[in-house]
Amino acid sequence: MPWREAAPKLAYPAVVKIDGSELVDPVRYAAKGYPHELWTELRREDPLAWFDPEGYRGFWAVTKHADLCEVSKQPELFSSEPRLVVQREEVEATEAIGNTMRTLVNMDPPDHRIYRGLATPWFKPSNLRRIEERMVESAKQLVGRMMRDGGPQECDFVTEVAALHPLRLIAHLFGLPEEDEAFILRATNELFGAQDPEFQRTGDRERDMARLQSDFFAYFAKTAKERRESPKEDLASLLATSEIDGKPIPELELLSYYLIVLTAGHETTRNAIAGGLLALMEHPGELRRLQADPDVTACAVDEIIRWTSPVNQFVRTATRKTRLRGRTIREGDALCLFYASANRDEDVFEDPFRFRVDRRPNPHLAFGIGEHFCLGATLARMEIRVLLEELVPRLVSLELAGEPERLASSFVGGLKHLPIRYQIRPAG
Ligand code: HEM
Repeated sequence: MPWREAAPKLAYPAVVKIDGSELVDPVRYAAKGYPHELWTELRREDPLAWFDPEGYRGFWAVTKHADLCEVSKQPELFSSEPRLVVQREEVEATEAIGNTMRTLVNMDPPDHRIYRGLATPWFKPSNLRRIEERMVESAKQLVGRMMRDGGPQECDFVTEVAALHPLRLIAHLFGLPEEDEAFILRATNELFGAQDPEFQRTGDRERDMARLQSDFFAYFAKTAKERRESPKEDLASLLATSEIDGKPIPELELLSYYLIVLTAGHETTRNAIAGGLLALMEHPGELRRLQADPDVTACAVDEIIRWTSPVNQFVRTATRKTRLRGRTIREGDALCLFYASANRDEDVFEDPFRFRVDRRPNPHLAFGIGEHFCLGATLARMEIRVLLEELVPRLVSLELAGEPERLASSFVGGLKHLPIRYQIRPAG
């Protein structure tokens, strides 16, 4: 997909004095987490604000729940291409998914609906129930491993539990062998952590991205070829053998499909699981409430997803001049949808900065809304619920054993390390 120039720069009057780079700078996210105090000010004073920070192409910051819904529900007016997320100008120019791949997240109707329809049946609750047993098995095994000899223990909850559970399940759904999970994990870390020194290969972004893409493509092309030759009962086979208008899916679209389902399917859920455990540690009363009343677990799952909002931003581009919240949006203007801000909107959530495991209703937008609503939302909810159901009742004690470390990314927010000290009782 071509990387197009943004509309020419034009000054929009600023209502609040905020440095727009604070909203999108990955280094800031690593150091301080999500900029909730800035979003709160924006929602109150200038809910649709234009920013044009040094080093970035301009964007409207969409911070209100209602505006995020309005934009997301009009894909013809607010397109998912060409920009995927707001990143530094030179990073956007070499952005692997946005510029060279054709995935669901950067397609528009009518193609988007046709492609999305191919995998939709696999993500329906009736189909996912087939792998619930595997989910429970994964949760039991990971929590059992955490227990060790039953005494007080320490671990990095991200690398030892949160990252592994969703990774195994998406790999299982896809039909990939267990020994390939390490490759998928490493490559996904490199993709989403491209601006985090811990996950860079050489630090030369352009070269790293080109190599990563070629590794992904080689792996997916081999998998697709094998599945075409001898199809199995898995998602990789379904996509490899699907047809559109009587013809196989073109190679670029097929490999892009593999990429989006495999990477979007575990990085985000990992961040929700790890961020959820941190939230429970920081709100011990809520952890006790969950332990006392397991019936609120489904509610707790959604509160964890609202609270952590693992996908922080996606961009839409106006296809023609329009109006939104009293502002004129020009054709070609980018609108940055801040999901985490919408999920703290005071007009929608009572006491939005309170973490409450029994919050109901909870109309959060962490999975997006409209055309691109997360394909894996049911899967993600099931994975988190099953893990909580195994872990929470068995926790005897839980505390931080060191500083949590955040990923340097303003696209997907989350923890890359969460050192914990805990004690777990035997199952049952
Ligand atoms: C807590 C976990 C998750 C969160 C917060 C999340 C969030 C999101 C969001 C916000 C979007 C919308 C993008 C847009 O509007 O442009 C999205 C799309 C998507 N998600 Fe998720 N996701 C999660 C888990 C998963 C899982 C487990 C899968 C499994 C495959 C998945 C696959 C996808 C795919 C394929 C899309 C693209 C859908 C489309 O464009 O039609 N996600 N996700």
